[in-house]
Amino acid sequence: MDLRKRPRRLRGGEAVRRMVRETRMDKASLIYPMFVMDGENRKEEIPSMEGQYRYSVDRMGECLQELQDAGVTAVMLFGIPAVKDELGSQAYAEDGIVQRALRYAREHFPQMYLVTDVCMCEYTSHGHCGVLAGHDVDNDRTLELLAKTALSHVQAGADMVAPSDMMDGRVLAIRNTLDAHGFSHIPVMSYAVKYASAFYGPFRDAAGSAPAFGDRRSYQMDFHNSREGIKEALLDEEEGADIIMVKPAMSYLDMVTKVKEAVHVPVASYSVSGEYAMVKAAAKQGWIDEERVICEMAASAYRAGSDIYITYFAKELAKFMDEGR
Ligand code: PBG
Ligand code: ZN
Repeated sequence: MDLRKRPRRLRGGEAVRRMVRETRMDKASLIYPMFVMDGENRKEEIPSMEGQYRYSVDRMGECLQELQDAGVTAVMLFGIPAVKDELGSQAYAEDGIVQRALRYAREHFPQMYLVTDVCMCEYTSHGHCGVLAGHDVDNDRTLELLAKTALSHVQAGADMVAPSDMMDGRVLAIRNTLDAHGFSHIPVMSYAVKYASAFYGPFRDAAGSAPAFGDRRSYQMDFHNSREGIKEALLDEEEGADIIMVKPAMSYLDMVTKVKEAVHVPVASYSVSGEYAMVKAAAKQGWIDEERVICEMAASAYRAGSDIYITYFAKELAKFMDEGR
């Protein structure tokens, strides 16, 4: 055969394949989502997320140590409070669960980069991501509480805050509040392109944060939409977001690529609880090779344009990345 171009030449062995690899993954870009809960001496496995746990503050060190040993340098904290109320007051309480977890982690793991999820749904009795006005969330009243929550996280030691509520104007509200209190150096990672997704199911089990009525479609995005995601990303960049996140990851990688072209800040993607649960469930049946699937999912997120990858598989991935998988 008279073929000048033979793509297989560059696939002939491990050395040349590694040499021409287009996507190189670095564990410094990983963020591990972690659940902290009230109580003492508790480490509870999340039923729909085998291998993931909720930790009381006095035991979260076990998890942080494992991460640190694996070379994962950043976590994102989610709090599960003992009590919930209409206004989600534990979200911004000085001795709230995330605030206590932050102080503990700051003291015992000074090297760990501490990101917090900023939202109301884990803290409200109705499970919605803000203050209710009738049967819908009141956007502008919610902004105050989100800003208050973000500020209390930062005061407790957070390095970065990540609002996930999808209210209009929350990045600006948080930015203004942080700046007014001397925290102009703290970055905001916005869950800007966040879809109303069934992939959050296991998370809502883990955090007990499923809405008591209705759903989140009046604030999270319709998954049929693409340009709307760019609009959200541009608005948040305009409001001062330092990092833009796309969520979920796997079914939304087109958005990662598009957002990457539209904004001038780093792009994060969040491989959510449902993605994790699907991998775990299929692997348990022996239907897929878990390790290889984890690597493929990660590579696809980076290939699409993610600079940062948020995943429950962070610890495992750190090792695979080091191995060049
Ligand atoms: C809070 C929040 C959610 C997730 C991250 N922050 C749940 C939701 O919006 O319902 C989902 C994370 C996951 O599924 O892993 N708003
Ligand atoms: Zn929420």
